[in-house]
Amino acid sequence: MKMTDKPWNEAQLIATVNESLNHYRLIESNRRFEAELAERNRELVEINRDLEKKVAARTHALVQAEKMAALGRMAGGVAHEINNPLGGILAFTKLMLRDGPTDDPQTQEALNTIHTCALRCRDTVYNLMSFARKPAEEHREISMNQVATDALTLARLYPKSKEVGVREELAPDLPPVLGQANLLQQLVINLLQNAYQASAPGQAVFLRTHPSGGKVFLEVEDIGTGIPKGIQAQIFEPFFTTKEVGQGTGLGLFICYGIAREHRGDLKVESEEGRGSRFTLELPEAAVILEKK
Ligand SMILES: Nc1ncnc2c1ncn2[C@@H]1O[C@H](COP(=O)(O)OP(=O)(O)OP(=O)(O)O)[C@@H](O)[C@H]1O
Ligand SMILES: [Mg+2]
Repeated sequence: MKMTDKPWNEAQLIATVNESLNHYRLIESNRRFEAELAERNRELVEINRDLEKKVAARTHALVQAEKMAALGRMAGGVAHEINNPLGGILAFTKLMLRDGPTDDPQTQEALNTIHTCALRCRDTVYNLMSFARKPAEEHREISMNQVATDALTLARLYPKSKEVGVREELAPDLPPVLGQANLLQQLVINLLQNAYQASAPGQAVFLRTHPSGGKVFLEVEDIGTGIPKGIQAQIFEPFFTTKEVGQGTGLGLFICYGIAREHRGDLKVESEEGRGSRFTLELPEAAVILEKK
């Protein structure tokens, strides 16, 4: 064989090399494709899990809102029924105390007790009826910073507030909301009172406001006892209380929730036992509501 004679066919060799290269590239791109597919799969699983969580949370919120609305209607109905006869009891005990047929001290004392008890019932009835109240007409533009400051001034009248400091972190330039300042003040006072009650002397309570995404947020956060997971779903129900008899009626948060709903808002809780609680009120900005009208 001459040196110039090649024992292989050049074209065939190039074709074979090319084929191998292509084959190699195919394997490589297949490997990349598989890795990408696995990555996309992981993302899909993640998105699916996220969606499931969102659906579960929304369903839970809807069920909770329905339940609270039903409870509100029931409590309001019962309160209305009790209101009239209670008015009668109060009026007649007052009359008997003033012009009663006897001055016997024991009878007078008994009448006084009836009167005091009836007054307590009237407060409870009033609170229950306030939940069922129809949305008020006179909602006007108000500042939640002003509501927070006014509520804090009033909440400072509570004895426990002397031992617990409140730190105000109010956002400047907070957009106004539409509402009734006195009702929103009552809501914030209730939250502050709960926070004081859950805190140990020397612990701080935080009162914050901030705007975000067309909403105004107000938070009351404490680093006190916290709320066990098992009862977090119940705390907004009427008459649910963990406080000793005579210490709490269990209507505070029920009323707060009613006021939040009446203002087209929501009231949420995040809490961990032993670490504290954060109650967040969210209200739509006035401009958002006015634009929709
Ligand atoms: N900041 C908080 N920290 C710990 N537990 C809380 C807090 N806020 C509320 N709770 C729990 O939720 C329950 C219900 O609160 P809610 O304000 O409705 O009623 P209450 O404080 O017990 O009585 P009331 O407000 O009528 O005086 C409380 O008894 C308490 O167990
Ligand atoms: Mg309370």
